[in-house]
Amino acid sequence: MIDDVLETDVLVVGGGGAGARAAIEAARNRARVLIVVKGLYGRSGCTVMAEGGYNAAFGFAEEDSPQLHFEDTVKGGRFLNDQRLVEILVKEAPERLIDLEWYGAAFDRLKTTLLSQRAFGGSSARRTCHKGDRTGHEMMNALKEESMRLCIDVLEEVMVTSLLTSGGAVCGATGYHIVTGQFLLIRAKAVVLATGGGSRIYPVTTNPFQKTGDGYALAYGAGAELMDMEMVQFHPTAMVYPKSARGLLVTEAVRGEGGRLYNRKGERFMAAYDPERMELSTRDVVTRALFTELEMGYGTPEGGVYLDVSHLPDSIIEGKLSMMVRQFSDAGVDIRREPMVISPSAHHFMGGVRIDENCETSVRNLFACGEVAGGVHGANRLGGNSLAETQVFGRRAGLAASARARDRFLPVDMDRVEEEYRRVFRFTKGRGRTSVYSLRKSLEETMWKNAGIVRTGEGLRKALDDIRSIRKALGKVRVEPGRRYNLQLVHALELEGMLTTAEMMVRSALMRTESRGAHYRADYPAEDPAWVRNILVKKDMELSTRPSVVTRLKPEGVP
Ligand code: FUM
Repeated sequence: MIDDVLETDVLVVGGGGAGARAAIEAARNRARVLIVVKGLYGRSGCTVMAEGGYNAAFGFAEEDSPQLHFEDTVKGGRFLNDQRLVEILVKEAPERLIDLEWYGAAFDRLKTTLLSQRAFGGSSARRTCHKGDRTGHEMMNALKEESMRLCIDVLEEVMVTSLLTSGGAVCGATGYHIVTGQFLLIRAKAVVLATGGGSRIYPVTTNPFQKTGDGYALAYGAGAELMDMEMVQFHPTAMVYPKSARGLLVTEAVRGEGGRLYNRKGERFMAAYDPERMELSTRDVVTRALFTELEMGYGTPEGGVYLDVSHLPDSIIEGKLSMMVRQFSDAGVDIRREPMVISPSAHHFMGGVRIDENCETSVRNLFACGEVAGGVHGANRLGGNSLAETQVFGRRAGLAASARARDRFLPVDMDRVEEEYRRVFRFTKGRGRTSVYSLRKSLEETMWKNAGIVRTGEGLRKALDDIRSIRKALGKVRVEPGRRYNLQLVHALELEGMLTTAEMMVRSALMRTESRGAHYRADYPAEDPAWVRNILVKKDMELSTRPSVVTRLKPEGVP
């Protein structure tokens, strides 16, 4: 049944920015580390695709400070953030950026040698450090090189299917090796979840294929607490055409460098929604503005609105937005002369696995960092805070997890492993005729229609019904029988996790009877001060709530 047994002190699940940083820190702290990635290390995940930048309030920029960064983040998150985590983020983001430079990432600098920083939405100062509009690519190359210098082991194209526990603490994981078809048991003294988000539950998303919410389902299955799963960010600007590029990110840096949004009538419509901040309002506000314009019929024939930079000098466009120039020129649009057509796309989960300051979850030996973790961003994330989060909390997770290397391995319940083996490969023995691809499509469609940018109780209940029927239909799915490179099997396993993620999201969204940040309920359109509370989800328990953690900034309207 088990084809191979591996042992490591720290198992890092996920090889994006947070996972790589966690592995580096754990290895520096002399732990044996194994990174397991569903795709290819350094190539899959969101960090390598990240464009706009990394928020860090350095002391040298007189108009900025960590305090201001803190306030922007908490106000942008509509006070739902865990303020202890925000304090850590703003304090440590600058040091972690310097680490990246030591690893070899060259952020853009000014002639004065200071870092170049651009404006981003919801930030009251120019705070976003960058490498043109391919910042994540630069970071990921440097992180990969550093992990190679540290001789960290990496296992690619392995999907972790479950976390194993012993006496309530995590003691390892099981995995399906997509290439060889092997079923693996990985024993570990600590596990760091760095699997990223789950925006692939929507049909239009900026995320790569791997982002199916696996980490949420794994944590849930292990009994960890998750929070604020209803908070999904839709990035306002993504490509609309050609069809194959629908949802592809158009970086906020376009607006940061001066890009303007227009509707079909030529109106700069943000004046009606946030006249002060205009295009640099927070993402929740810009996305809803766009949604409203489209609903009112003021969209372009292609179904988006215009984003224009043609008033900017060519040198700025070519120098700072070179990737956008190429991306649109492939679609036959010269952005130096004509506007882009854009519309919103599912981008980021603000909610996730609840962590403490050391990234430990409510399950011992299980750590989480990056997008899979909740609490830092509250109800809406500021652009640029995510890359910073990967480094700040990746390092903390790696450090805390490596301290467990001194412990003994906990025993593994082999009955549980056998049960998991049967669960994983049952699809290859199924009798039904249902296609896994059509079920995935049904899930994406109902999530977009009923649990997307604007929600209602009725729509959410419909989504919940659909999720339950799709889960039932999954029992009738049959995939190809072979084990090697069985992508149908991967899709079926992913779908099972996506359904868990989607259900947590929809149930939480139903419970939050108000509108806050990215969560907009047309039937409860106002923010309610009584709802400065986090919604908690845990296996076999009813949903519960608790007041958000406040350290320094008191929520508006709360006495
Ligand atoms: O628009 C962007 O470049 C995305 C940045 C982010 O989500 O942090």
